[in-house]
Amino acid sequence: MAIIEVNDLYKEYKINQKKEGVLGAIGNIFYPRYISKVAVNKINFSIEEGEAVGYIGANGAGKSTTIKMLTGILTPTSGRVLVNGNIPYKHRVKNNSIIGAVFGQRTQMWWDLPPIETYKLIQKIYDVPKKQFDENLSTFTELLDLKELIKIPVRQLSLGQKMRCEIAAAFIHDPKIVYLDEPTIGLDIMVKDKIRNFIKNINKKRSVTVILTTHDLQDIEEVCKRVIIIDNGQVVYDGKIEEIKNSLGKYRTVHFQVKNCSNNLDNVLDTQKEYLFEVSKSPYDIQVKFDRQKITASEVMNIISPYCDIMDLTIQEPSIESIVRDLYRKQVDNNDFIKENAGNCKY
Ligand SMILES: Nc1ncnc2c1ncn2[C@@H]1O[C@H](COP(=O)(O)OP(=O)(O)OP(=O)(O)O)[C@@H](O)[C@H]1O
Ligand SMILES: [Mg+2]
Repeated sequence: MAIIEVNDLYKEYKINQKKEGVLGAIGNIFYPRYISKVAVNKINFSIEEGEAVGYIGANGAGKSTTIKMLTGILTPTSGRVLVNGNIPYKHRVKNNSIIGAVFGQRTQMWWDLPPIETYKLIQKIYDVPKKQFDENLSTFTELLDLKELIKIPVRQLSLGQKMRCEIAAAFIHDPKIVYLDEPTIGLDIMVKDKIRNFIKNINKKRSVTVILTTHDLQDIEEVCKRVIIIDNGQVVYDGKIEEIKNSLGKYRTVHFQVKNCSNNLDNVLDTQKEYLFEVSKSPYDIQVKFDRQKITASEVMNIISPYCDIMDLTIQEPSIESIVRDLYRKQVDNNDFIKENAGNCKY
């Protein structure tokens, strides 16, 4: 049975439209004017126990709003959400006892105390047996490299150090489900790596259900097999990450810094139109988009290098935003992707 069931979940915010100036402020008190904003628009999905699901979409798509409804922080305007058989906003204590959460922008740890004090408090609140707590603490300390950190007051930790401690706090009571809302935001590649490996490890070994929202496609690729894409409050794709990657994330852009380019380069690029797209070109800079299923980056380099001195090159992965954008474009084109994925894609 699914551990998370979401049916026609809908959330509308009421926003107070404030008028300007002193008179406006007084007017606001007596005649407040509200507009409504639909953040989540009748979404449906279910998640099985032990799944790791990436929940992605552009800024303002409705991800955090969904997570807040799943955790019971927000009450839906309509629709149904069941987490382990409980309605989160009604059965808050029962729901809280089986979940952990990280909101990348906030901390659940005591600001003036070292993380170990927060962990001990969590142990008391969740009634975690001492042996289990000690085991978790030592495993997490090793995996996230926390030894030196857990005794330093939270306010003296760097962002990456804080986030590693935060992740441990979300898992320390052995929750069944962990919600991670942008846990790697602003972190360097080493810390991101540590956090991804940790989540992957715990998800696999302990069958913890993980819902991960992020703007970093790499996070999703490393941790999740399934991805739900939301746009404008609606689910536009629900399926395997592999499928979406192969269908829409197959393009890469190579950025060459060049000099001494020969005039023949234009003709050569013209003959490769089947594989190379969107060529932007200046005397010192060439950008080529290619389909990685048809041609490799080194083959692209071999095409260009006889005609230019290549000083440097970078390869750009498609961003989540561009994948979502492409998904829309595909909808407009009504092409094969939608037909092939009719079961997953909601358009
Ligand atoms: N408390 C609130 N009051 C009014 N509107 C809100 C509130 N919180 C979010 N919204 C609006 O709801 C929409 C969805 O916001 P949400 O925070 O869920 O997006 P998100 O997908 O998490 O975006 P991001 O990637 O930027 O974190 C946005 O248009 C936002 O402006
Ligand atoms: Mg958000």
